[in-house]
Amino acid sequence: MARTIASFTCQECGAVHNKWTGRCDGCGAWNSVVEEAPAEQAPKGLGAGKGHSISFVGLTGETSDATRRISGISEFDRVCGGGLVPGSAVLIGGDPGIGKSTLVLQVLSRMATETPCSYISGEEAIGQIRMRATRLGLSEAPVQLAAATNVRDIITTLESTRNTGIVVIDSIQTMYVDSLDSAPGTVSQVRASAQELIRLAKRQGFTLLLVGHVTKEGAIAGPRVLEHMVDTVLYFEGERGHQFRLLRGIKNRYGATDEIGVFEMTDRGLQEVANPSALFLAERRGNVSGAVVFAGIEGTRPLLVEIQALVAPSSLATPRRAVIGWDSGRLAMVLAVLETRCGVALAGRDVYLNVAGGLKINEPAADLAVAAALLSAASDIPAPKDAVVFGEIGLSGEIRGVSQTALRLKEAAKLGFNQAVKPPSAKGERAGNISLTEISHLRELLTVLGWEPGRQNNDQNSEKNSATPRTEDAYS
Ligand code: TYD
Ligand code: MG
Repeated sequence: MARTIASFTCQECGAVHNKWTGRCDGCGAWNSVVEEAPAEQAPKGLGAGKGHSISFVGLTGETSDATRRISGISEFDRVCGGGLVPGSAVLIGGDPGIGKSTLVLQVLSRMATETPCSYISGEEAIGQIRMRATRLGLSEAPVQLAAATNVRDIITTLESTRNTGIVVIDSIQTMYVDSLDSAPGTVSQVRASAQELIRLAKRQGFTLLLVGHVTKEGAIAGPRVLEHMVDTVLYFEGERGHQFRLLRGIKNRYGATDEIGVFEMTDRGLQEVANPSALFLAERRGNVSGAVVFAGIEGTRPLLVEIQALVAPSSLATPRRAVIGWDSGRLAMVLAVLETRCGVALAGRDVYLNVAGGLKINEPAADLAVAAALLSAASDIPAPKDAVVFGEIGLSGEIRGVSQTALRLKEAAKLGFNQAVKPPSAKGERAGNISLTEISHLRELLTVLGWEPGRQNNDQNSEKNSATPRTEDAYS
């Protein structure tokens, strides 16, 4: 009789160990290794069964371009690359309570009139989903609803109903394959369930939407392989205190990634935000120091956001550097360049940086806006009102060009800005009547902001070696 040997799987990375260990060798996570029943053994050796020969074809040929299924929720369709592709699998990850179930229900009910849609929930009872649908005013939509967690049952059912268009599994962590011993939510269950469902989706040509939970660390719970198995990975994110939500494309085999869709969570569900810049700038107060509007690009769309900085006296030996919504490594770089190339020393100060509205920015083009916010905060001089700022900063203090300048300027003009501080550009992009201030070195930013070099020099000679003439009075 064959002896079944239990295997020990890391719940973080999916690495398999042959004995329990406190720390996974694969990813270094502590306490993540759990005993699981072994997966079914593949036949030993490749000679065990004779395979069929496969045929090769050329790169060109008759392949019908699958028509995408469009939900009409344009923020969702755009992030999916222009609609859902039949036979593809989409993973929607996000924190609990962020609105994943609401989103998929809204998408399904829009699509249900065109194509048969099924919503399979392993988390909520039918009654709960119906209540939500009623609240959202969607109870008339012909969505097929079921509460189930056994993948075998789901597959049998879907195989018998041939003309399914879209299937939602909410969530993949609640599903289980009964041939495996481990509990739902463990790596092997999540992996096996997803594999079975994706295989069926490809075979039958329906779009599979998998809802996935996110761990404390922000990765989709279960193995990373889940992200490799699906065609599209979307993250639904947002700050708890804010009402808007971002749907972000992380991977897409059928379209561009780094596209975002912006929604607002209201009492009647998620509403599309057609003009996110206006939303992100809604609470802007004019004429305060430390606030600068950055003209950014998210995916194909321009997005204006306010970057706020606060420079405060520090009582710590190592001053604080707190960043929300931006990369702290890049903040350190901008501070170092300001100090070394422009003589603006903030080393002894606490620095706080915040991207207003809870947005996360990854573009290097935000460097210049961050530098401007820091300088404005340090000097207590408000940045020019109605100006947007963008540009990448190099280590020697040079301002580097960024992509999509025209798009950024156009958005700024649309929202009533009339000045742009930007890198020099040979193309000479213009938009509306925005006046362009092109700077090629970070030093020039001091002049743009009305920083008085005299004061700064005085400061540098003073014992404090600080570059903030005005705020200094407050604490010295
Ligand atoms: P839900 O879709 O259940 O989140 P997830 O599936 O990601 O766990 O969203 C639940 C939250 O959304 C809950 O905190 C209430 C809020 N919400 C609204 O504010 N308005 C609405 O119309 C709905 C349906 C939910
Ligand atoms: Mg849910």
